[in-house]
Amino acid sequence: MSLYPLLRPFIFRLDGERAHLLSLDVLEKAPRKTPPSYAPALGTRVAGLDFPTPVGLAAGYDKDARVPDALLGLGFGFVEVGTLTPRPQAGNPKPRLFRLVEDRAVINRMGFNNGGQEDAFARLAKRERRGIVGVNVGANKDSADRTADYARGVRAMAPVADYLTINISSPNTPGLRALQEAAALDALLAAAYEARGEQGPPIFLKVAPDLDPADIDAIAKVVVDRKIDALIVANTTVSRPPLSSRHAGESGGLSGEPLRPLALQRLKDFRKATGGQVPLIAAGGIASAEDAYARIRAGASLVQLYSALVYEGPGLAARIARGLVPLLRRDGFASVAEAVGA
Ligand code: FNR
Repeated sequence: MSLYPLLRPFIFRLDGERAHLLSLDVLEKAPRKTPPSYAPALGTRVAGLDFPTPVGLAAGYDKDARVPDALLGLGFGFVEVGTLTPRPQAGNPKPRLFRLVEDRAVINRMGFNNGGQEDAFARLAKRERRGIVGVNVGANKDSADRTADYARGVRAMAPVADYLTINISSPNTPGLRALQEAAALDALLAAAYEARGEQGPPIFLKVAPDLDPADIDAIAKVVVDRKIDALIVANTTVSRPPLSSRHAGESGGLSGEPLRPLALQRLKDFRKATGGQVPLIAAGGIASAEDAYARIRAGASLVQLYSALVYEGPGLAARIARGLVPLLRRDGFASVAEAVGA
């Protein structure tokens, strides 16, 4: 049985960011667990990597790569650390992270607070490299050449990353999402692959859910032409579906349950626009095995989550993975891969 329902009221008395930092401290100090073993049907191969389960941790929880192995030990099939910028940066003034409890949602305007790539590199270089850890890279807010920041991040982090994610979809760095525009995106991806070289890890691209059909078609064309290794759909939204909690008016990116329908729709849009030529990774409002399964059926090869952890606790990834097995069996699929887009 999980202790989390009992602990939650105490955790929720803390400010969101304090609770987050406390959870990282706990994971850092907890005895190291080896990852659980998973049903073989959950194993899936994407971009040349063998994932033990399709359920990963989305970027933003472990920005500085402090506890990737502890997170793998909790039952995540893969963990994405970051966003890491070339230089350390403080992020936006606090408070900047809000729990919308009644909505089972989160609003954040962290602004890429992180300790920089050099420190994270040193931590990742010490790992034994068991389990898949992706590194999400971004640009410094005050950078004069953002494309160069991404190239630098790719070059710097490739040796310690199982995959790299180019994150151009945070709503909290002004102007960043302009890089989703076709010509800018094309130049960015060219620079990223050049920086990586022939031998490096696969490169994923993470997009916002706030895109209209013309944007989606344009992005899809670029990622297919540039042979991006996978597309993560999506980051947080600046849109505001109806919300009831007192923090509903905070500015920043919204995630969790209210993002679910939009994120699912964008996944379907990108599946259609890319014609299945690019592996898709779904994120946004995934909180159960049913949610994860719906994304897989809609075309996702993998899923990621973050906000639901706040509400469901640290055992969630393992529960979702276990819960996928009977859903696959029910519909006659022998593996996750068979169910993708089916
Ligand atoms: C995020 N997310 C995020 N994404 C990213 O690419 N880089 C980042 O640094 C962050 N930081 C971040 C902080 C906080 C507090 C939250 C809640 C989210 C976005 C995250 O990875 C994910 O795409 C969205 O949150 C949608 O998934 P969930 O949270 O609805 O499961």
